[in-house]
Amino acid sequence: MKITFYGHASLSIEIKDLSILVDPFISGNEKASEIDINNLKADYILVTHAHQDHILDVEAIAKRTGAIIVSNFEIVTYYQNKGLEGHPMNHGGSWDFEFGNLKYVNAIHTSSFPDGSYGGQPGGFIIEGEHKTIYIAGDTALTMDMKLIPMQTKLDLAILPIGDNFTMGIEDAILASNFIECDKILGYHFDTFGYIEINHEEAKRKFFDNDKDLMLLDIGESVEL
Ligand code: NI
Ligand code: MN
Repeated sequence: MKITFYGHASLSIEIKDLSILVDPFISGNEKASEIDINNLKADYILVTHAHQDHILDVEAIAKRTGAIIVSNFEIVTYYQNKGLEGHPMNHGGSWDFEFGNLKYVNAIHTSSFPDGSYGGQPGGFIIEGEHKTIYIAGDTALTMDMKLIPMQTKLDLAILPIGDNFTMGIEDAILASNFIECDKILGYHFDTFGYIEINHEEAKRKFFDNDKDLMLLDIGESVEL
């Protein structure tokens, strides 16, 4: 499993020669200007919730690639009405896709589309493929629901928002990593806007002081599990 960071909350996950894009917000992110969405591969596009900073490039990439959009029922219906392909899910549900098993789990946040239409309830994903399991939390507050995850799953990596203001900040993300029983964290949802700028060294040190490893990737950089 190879995970590439495309800035903000945008990721690409490669499993078994399949490309799974997550929350593509790239063309509108000045910090990701070296990434061209026309060069991105996508067999699937996972969407955690309907906010602009998670869906901006979904339509363009899905149109070009024919990728299957996976999200909650309301978000998938929104794109199916535009003629795009989708697989609707809802909280607590899992499905065996060709890349592996995917579960849609709870997140505490909101989820309206930029035009104000209803984007269902926000979520996160647990992806199991090639004998590795990762948790992509999406935009979320710290929530006790996270404690349910290790009751069923041993995580190899957790991707947690750390930028504060709209989501968890560093302190809550450290507690979250306790809740999910995973010490290997990839931080995301930071630095894109003024509200969510963080001090990288301080963030890494705080995780280190709690016996945890916080990775912060440069835009375009990958990590292999
Ligand atoms: Ni959001
Ligand atoms: Mn967001």
